[in-house]
Formats: sequence, C-alpha cells, structure tokens
Amino acid sequence: MITSGHLLSINDLTRDGAFEVLDTARELSRITDGAIKKLPTLRGRTVVNLFFEDSTRTRLSFEAAAKRLSADVINFSAKGSSVSKGESLKDTAQTLEAMGAELVIVRHGSSGAAARLAQSGWIKSHVVNAGDGMHEHPTQALLDAYTIREHFPEHDRDFTGLRIGIVGDILHSRVARSNALLLTSLGAQVVLIAPPTLIPIGVSSWPVEISYDLDAEIESLDAIMMLRVQSERMNDAFFPSEREYARGYGLGAERVNAMKERAIIMHPGPMNRGLEISASSADSERSVILEQVSNGVLVRMAVLYLLMGGTAIPTEGVLV
Ligand code: CP
Repeated sequence: MITSGHLLSINDLTRDGAFEVLDTARELSRITDGAIKKLPTLRGRTVVNLFFEDSTRTRLSFEAAAKRLSADVINFSAKGSSVSKGESLKDTAQTLEAMGAELVIVRHGSSGAAARLAQSGWIKSHVVNAGDGMHEHPTQALLDAYTIREHFPEHDRDFTGLRIGIVGDILHSRVARSNALLLTSLGAQVVLIAPPTLIPIGVSSWPVEISYDLDAEIESLDAIMMLRVQSERMNDAFFPSEREYARGYGLGAERVNAMKERAIIMHPGPMNRGLEISASSADSERSVILEQVSNGVLVRMAVLYLLMGGTAIPTEGVLV
C-alpha cells in the first residue's frame, strides 16, 4: 500500500507495495482486456493533470487511466495558463482543488516540486509525481518493471538473476534514478552505462554498478533501457559530437545482434532516433517500447485506484 497517501518517489513504496501496484495493474489488465474497457470504481471522483513541462505519454496515459476508472479529469498545462501572468504553484494547485480535485498528478521542471505540493499543507489532495526535474519519475519505473515482469514470467515475484542496463544520459534522467531504486528493490542487478560526463555526482550511493563500456556489457543484459539525450537540459558540451556519442553509446543493429536471445529493448520515450537508438533497433522484434506505453495506462490505473481507495475492482468488465 502507498501509506503516505502520495507517490512522490519510489522510496514511498516498499517491495511489497511495489508488487501490489504491479499485481493490481495485472488484475486491471485482465478485467479490461475484453470489449468493456471502463470500470466504475472512481465514478464521481476528480483527478487533475497539472503539467508545467511538456509530456505526451505520461499526461495522456494518466488521462486514459482516470477515464477508464470513470473519474472526471481536469487537464492543466502551464502553457496558455495564468502561470504566464506569474501565478504560483501554490495558487494554481489551490485553484484546481477548489474545482474539486482529489488527486493531483504533477510534472514540474524543479526537483522536489511534487514533494513541496504534497507536504506544504497548501492542498489536501493526494499527489502523484509525474516527473520532477532530474529527480524522479516513479510511475515510469513501475511501468518499466511491469513490462520486464511480463517478459520474464519466471521472475514474477523476484527479479534476482535479471541484469538490466540503463544506458546514456543518466545525469539528466529522473527515469534512471526511479528505475535504479525500484528494480534493485525487486532483486535485479542494475548497471548504469554512460560516458563519465553523463554519470551524476553522488551515484556511489545508488545501489548500482557503473560501466563506461556498452560493448563489454551488452551480452550480459536481459533488458537494455536506452535513455534520451536530454539536450534541453544541457548547458554544456557533455560529449564531442552526436556521431561520437552514437558510436559509443547508441543502440544499433550490431549491438542488437550481440544481445542475449530473450533480451528486450526499452526506451521511456520520446526517442531521438539515430542518436541513442537507431530506427531499426527501435522497431525491431526485441523492442517493447510500445508495450511500455500500453502498460503505462494499466500501472497508472493501479496507482490512482490504490491512492484514491476506489470501490472494489469488479471480477469482470461491466457497462458503466
Ligand atoms: N516517458 C515520458 O515521461 O514521456 P513523456 O515526456 O512523453 O510523458
């Protein structure tokens, strides 16, 4: 259970709590697999998407998740809002709560923004972190773990023995931190693979191995998670050229051919095709990138359901 009433960090979940989210998502998948996709569990409840940074997958999948549980959804995007007139996070959130919000999903460019919203006492709503600066993106890690589990059913309740490589721009990645915390807590071995300039200071406190050599690691990985090069967060040159980066850390056909037989290719999106991942790798049979997107809806349904204490999940799809 998510005991704090918020999901701000993977550290808000125990190992059992993480499996509860994954199991609930699986149950929701089973029930909504047929013709009937919608459940009445959050009918009459209101969820707000509060996005101060751009998003495609996270915002839309939270919206789809809430609607599949019959909740009402208010979408807020900072662009085109009164934020441009100087309105603060506090006033914006309080305004949305005054319109009935019970759970706020927040994406913000500042690390700690979701925690500030949850812990300041400004609002009473549950808060879900949908990505805060370079800090965390817990629901991305949960959907990634769900996807890995679906491909390795022999590790259903224990990821021990799975070796997962997270490759590329670790420095600017909230996805890397949340995945490192979650996957290791489920038992997996995680190796961060990147040029030294893209490894964060303080990484020695993370429960991971570090490698600068993708070719030395590729044959040992069960899943490879390619990260987007986040040019918009780079105010310096972190590698000599895109060509050199792709040669050292990009996933192309030659590296894909060196992967284990059952190994899967992951990417949280959006992708820079031709930089961290080639088009042929992204579209290959090993790629589970679109499965990650579909699983994101299920995992986010589970998070909303568990946080908001919806009515019992029906045993089969029902008309609402
Ligand atoms: N993975 C992810 O967070 O994608 P979006 O930025 O499109 O939400």
